[in-house]
Amino acid sequence: MKKISLKIILVSLVFFCHCTKKKPVTSIYDSIEYNNLTKKEIRSGESIWAIACFRCHMYGTNGAVVLEEKTYWDSVASKGLEKLFNSVWNGKQGESGLMPPKGLCNLCSETEIRESILYIFHLAKKAQAANKAKLSNK
Ligand code: HEC
Repeated sequence: MKKISLKIILVSLVFFCHCTKKKPVTSIYDSIEYNNLTKKEIRSGESIWAIACFRCHMYGTNGAVVLEEKTYWDSVASKGLEKLFNSVWNGKQGESGLMPPKGLCNLCSETEIRESILYIFHLAKKAQAANKAKLSNK
């Protein structure tokens, strides 16, 4: 009797874990989208960055986090593109400020918002590398 109930518990545990297992999330840096960015997509992302995202993310205005903050952007990257798309498309209340829907690019399409998000990570890598070089030159 004891053995049977133990088996039942084990089987249901395995079953339970299997069912609740979420779809794996791919970090931006490991994603197909990020690693296959074309020049055209980078340019498109850059132009959205320049008219919208730059305003807050370049200097950390309105509670946004600057791109040099590697720890922050690495953890954001691990949320994956879909979640980040939702944050930017719908807006997000952060710890010290609010990102308005579409990062204020009201005429942006879904594709353009995705490109601008991928561009931010592209730029963040550059900013972080430059920052590291600067620090090691001191
Ligand atoms: C008015 C200021 C502002 C603008 C403009 C803005 N952001 Fe943000 N962004 C924020 C703030 C504030 C946060 C939240 C910071 C935090 O996590 O505390 C944020 C967070 C983010 C995050 C992380 C979201 C998450 O779920 O962790 C991404 C990605 C992002 N912004 C991308 C963009 C992109 C792309 C644009 C341009 C299309 C943009 N932002 C424009 C202020 C802004």
